[in-house]
Amino acid sequence: MTTAPHPLAPEWLAARESTDDLEAKLFPADTARTTEGELTLGGIPVSELAASYGTPLYVVSENDFRARARGFREAFTAAFAPDTEVDVFYAGKAFLTTHAARWAAEEGLNIDTASGGELAITLAAGVEPARIGLHGNNKSDAEITRAVELGIGRIIADSVDEISRISAIASQLGRTAKVMLRLTPGVYASTHEYIATAHEDQKFGLSLTPVPGTQTEAANPYLGSPAWTAVEQALDTPGVELIGLHCHIGSQIFEPAGFELAAGKLIGFLARIGASRGVVLPELDLGGGHGIAYTEADHPRPPEDIAQALAAAVREACTEQGISIPRISIEPGRSIAGPAGVTLYTAGTTKDVVVQDGITRRYIAVDGGMADNARPVLYDADYSAVLADRRVTGEHILSRIVGKHCESGDIVVRNVYLPPAVTRGDILAVPATGAYCHSLSSNYNYLTRPAVVAVRDGQAQVLIRRETEEMMLARDTGYP
Ligand code: LLP
Repeated sequence: MTTAPHPLAPEWLAARESTDDLEAKLFPADTARTTEGELTLGGIPVSELAASYGTPLYVVSENDFRARARGFREAFTAAFAPDTEVDVFYAGKAFLTTHAARWAAEEGLNIDTASGGELAITLAAGVEPARIGLHGNNKSDAEITRAVELGIGRIIADSVDEISRISAIASQLGRTAKVMLRLTPGVYASTHEYIATAHEDQKFGLSLTPVPGTQTEAANPYLGSPAWTAVEQALDTPGVELIGLHCHIGSQIFEPAGFELAAGKLIGFLARIGASRGVVLPELDLGGGHGIAYTEADHPRPPEDIAQALAAAVREACTEQGISIPRISIEPGRSIAGPAGVTLYTAGTTKDVVVQDGITRRYIAVDGGMADNARPVLYDADYSAVLADRRVTGEHILSRIVGKHCESGDIVVRNVYLPPAVTRGDILAVPATGAYCHSLSSNYNYLTRPAVVAVRDGQAQVLIRRETEEMMLARDTGYP
């Protein structure tokens, strides 16, 4: 029997007939079904994980996370060898716990932090300050002071004003801070598309476009741009060592074209600094944004492809500009943590809702929702799901997995084919939730935040404890 596509289903969604049809690219590599048909993560049946730690539960495969971290480092190192070295900074905003920071560091990665809080977790993990970068478009004096005192590997400066603040703080402490400049090269990329423009309208970074009314110079097209002003300031103020340029062009990018274009622009700027100021900055950071598969419709490229395309573009641009190839860094977050994570939910109420004459949609409510995965609400993100605790074969029906929050937009998976037998108490697994789910989670409706459990070779380890009502009430001063 073949399941006919449901009239409300998106075109890319294939009808399914068995819970055994696991889409491998969506799950951690060490995911399987037992002979009885139950899903196992890192060798542990989901029913065991749910019984031990409760649901919703964030499960992360340590082996998968580590393999992806290693994969990025090896692919980029190989692609740029023998010309230059590559540092991979894991973008902690995607998913950060002390264990995750240690996994990344043990696999040879540095850590990119975006706030004092992320810096604190990374330090608590024991990562050496020299292997940490600090981002932020509005860093506080306290954040800058801490970074300078620690002597962290790089502070990525986001404005002209920040450079004077770093200089003042470093001078006062008798230190020199290693600084990179975050530039906006006028390239925005998102999934398969990128757009290139001369102007930027966003809060991050320093534009390469001269501010209207400033003095121009034929030899230097950047004169009068915030980026150029920042370079002069960084080179001329005490307490600041300018080590290179940075850009981050977007998120969930599948094709290398946008990265290539941005690299070319930054290399042109690097060459101009060399020509005008006689200083060759040693480093170039091309940011993160490498895409992953959330549903069967996403087709990410292996890191080797992106690395080779980028290495070719960097070599070509450096040859053209007549400069030597700088040391390269990248900042992948989602592409390391995302596919390593799966969220387990327990199914509750189901409803068949008549949407149009003769067309119904099955709603399955689970015990979590937008507080543990804000991405569908924030970005209209699509996810996928499977019935995880048992095998069912036969016609699947179009279903929508929703949460238990007081919002009609509280959707976990907008469209998925699931067996009609899914019922209260069943465990549903939503893959590709390792990035930006735990880190964006909230307490909305005072739901307690889920535990994060790592699985590896049949062993489970709690990384983050489940929040309790006592923990929530501990912040409420009206509670005795
Ligand atoms: N580097 C910088 C400077 C960034 O701003 C970001 C992400 C990254 C690296 C890591 O990007 P990734 O490789 O993870 O795409 N909450 C959104 C994503 C926001 C990303 C912000 N910056 C989401 O859930 O899709």
